[in-house]
Amino acid sequence: MAQRVRKAVLPVAGLGTRFLPATKAMPKEMLTVVDRPLIQYAVEECLAAGIEEFVFVTGRNKGALEDHFDHAYELEMTLANRGNKQAELKQTEQATIRPGNAIFTRQQKPLGLGHAVWCARHWIGREPFAVLLPDELMVSTPSCTAQLVAAHEKTGGNVVAVIDVPRAQTGSYGIVAVKAEKAGLAEMTGIVEKPRPEEAPSTLAWIGRSIVMPEVFDHLDKHEKGAGGEIQLTDAMAKLIGHQPFHALRYTGGRYDCGNRLGFLEANIAVALGRADSAAETRALLGRLLKG
Ligand code: G1P
Repeated sequence: MAQRVRKAVLPVAGLGTRFLPATKAMPKEMLTVVDRPLIQYAVEECLAAGIEEFVFVTGRNKGALEDHFDHAYELEMTLANRGNKQAELKQTEQATIRPGNAIFTRQQKPLGLGHAVWCARHWIGREPFAVLLPDELMVSTPSCTAQLVAAHEKTGGNVVAVIDVPRAQTGSYGIVAVKAEKAGLAEMTGIVEKPRPEEAPSTLAWIGRSIVMPEVFDHLDKHEKGAGGEIQLTDAMAKLIGHQPFHALRYTGGRYDCGNRLGFLEANIAVALGRADSAAETRALLGRLLKG
């Protein structure tokens, strides 16, 4: 039986240069979609998958992330003392992580995603873990990570979430090679980091959600550089293929690439349209703006 997935690694060291000046003094993971920061969506996605322990791999100027998941006593007291702010108080208190369940460790040099995940190795130990890139916002029930956990419980081993992308975009993703697909799940035969369209083994792109086996650290330990001169997680994952189960799961659900401005704008509109408390107003607002 597959070992239960209890822990998640959230690499959050990136500078967010595409969002300057917004990210000059604020981590990009604190950018807000409707009413909560991107990082909170990633944490909630994990909680919805039964994952309650978090390793945040941070960098300089990322302190706001740690504060976000702590109690904010003055604020909570103020809200509690105002009779009509109970809903806001609940929202604020919900944005915490249970005591002792979060670790913040720094990736001291930007050596690549594989290196960022490697920085979490001591806190993960020898058990399967989830990796989530919080720039990618996933909206679905069950959550994207819950879909991966369910697949992992069936197949054991590594599972990555993929979607089909236009061939012209393969250079932006880790692209997988698979055997025949059954009910959205396919055994993987390879994964290549950012191949040129003519060299890509398929158009199935890894979208920053995975369940990874701890043996990946044996490869990351070597600090081998790959595409772009960086230590790539996909290269270390590729080395596990053929040695342990490795599957790609076709993700079904909303996905918004909040690493770029248009994707971020789309996320805000889509999430607002998807929520009962804002759908009608947002629809009316968009109608007015489009007419104008
Ligand atoms: C990273 C990974 C890539 C993956 C992508 C998903 O790339 O290296 O394999 O497909 O995330 O968002 P980045 O977008 O950080 O360059």
